[in-house]
Amino acid sequence: MLSHVNRTEEARNILVQNDRGGYTIPTAGLYPYQWNWDSAIAAMGFAEFDIDRAWQELETLFTGQWPDGMVPHILFHKPDPGYFPGPDVWGGVGPIPSSGITQPPVAATMARLVWEKDMQAGEERLRALWPKLRAWHEWFLKWRLDEGAVCVTHPWEAGRDNAPDWDDVMARIDPVGVGEYTRRDTSHVDSSMRPTKYDYDRYIWLVQMGRRFGWNQAALLEENPFRVADPTMTFLLLRAHRDLLLMGVRLGLDTTGIADEIALLEAGARTLWNEDLGSYDSRDTKTGAWTGSITNASYLCWLAGIESARQAEHLDRSLAAVPYGAASLDPSSEKFDAKRYWRGPTWAFMNFLIGLGLEDFNHPLAGRLRQVTHDLLNDHGFAEYFDPTDGSPAGGKSFTWTAAVWLGWASKQDRGES
Ligand code: GLC
Repeated sequence: MLSHVNRTEEARNILVQNDRGGYTIPTAGLYPYQWNWDSAIAAMGFAEFDIDRAWQELETLFTGQWPDGMVPHILFHKPDPGYFPGPDVWGGVGPIPSSGITQPPVAATMARLVWEKDMQAGEERLRALWPKLRAWHEWFLKWRLDEGAVCVTHPWEAGRDNAPDWDDVMARIDPVGVGEYTRRDTSHVDSSMRPTKYDYDRYIWLVQMGRRFGWNQAALLEENPFRVADPTMTFLLLRAHRDLLLMGVRLGLDTTGIADEIALLEAGARTLWNEDLGSYDSRDTKTGAWTGSITNASYLCWLAGIESARQAEHLDRSLAAVPYGAASLDPSSEKFDAKRYWRGPTWAFMNFLIGLGLEDFNHPLAGRLRQVTHDLLNDHGFAEYFDPTDGSPAGGKSFTWTAAVWLGWASKQDRGES
């Protein structure tokens, strides 16, 4: 076990070592490009010791913004043959090679945190970024709403690749014609910790379809069988839009329409409440079916400004069931799998996002979640994710967002800071 000081130094080193010149990669080998929400969390971590570098991280992310406002989930700044599916498979149509889907929009929320560290130093940077953030949010509002809830069109878009939320939709896809391909993730990490081939065939089939339609959103709205209204996107866009409004007002910018859009998203968030489950849940917009799983995404409600006593009961129960929560899937679920990615493991950055929301409400679970995350990272380091039953590290090592979460949030627990 390392001392606290060493962990902090180690975390800074990870950010610096994963820096590829203006952007960080999540981890060498497994994820050698710039990922969207990873980068936003990295910016928050950099803000603890290098504000200029924090802004740069966000600015580089937006150099990949498409003309329609979309910000891709991966930017392929420099070729790396160790990753599949790379730029040739995706055929992104933006200013630099990219994927064709997006990821949860946490950038505005992280920009606010960076700005609040030093408002004077950040003002000009934020003024330049704000319209780009807005254009991205407007893209979601234009293309991705279902009854006001925000939809994903590929499991990777939610950033929770193999979560149980997608099981039924994926089962309806017949990945005919997907062809031969070589996965690269399982050459870096044990395959028991990764999505299965069954999942992967369908991920690639969806990519090929998007590419065939040139990533045209109007066409994909008609053709894509995968359209799930999901708590990750809905809660995070709702929160990000609130932050956008707050920053815009403080900067004296034109914020016309944003308050109404927030009200629409609030109504959308309510449509994700599954009364039978007593939890927020994903909803398949093609069939109306619930997915019936209590995931860590459902605990993002507080971050979106929504209090829920019943959701808190689930989190409380989940934290009591395993020593290192919050498990990505409720440990009492029959699908719970302690090491398989988004079907059980704990993700530090999700705990951070959940914790930020709980802190807004002064919720008693806030301190507990931060303490658990502190202990997990202090004792087990900065892995991609962790087995919640014993804390053992899983997936990639020296992971950017895990280190960032230590710097900006978890390490403050034993310093008694807020
Ligand atoms: C995995 C995660 C996703 C993350 C990416 C890079 O695909 O599921 O959330 O952005 O890895 O770390």
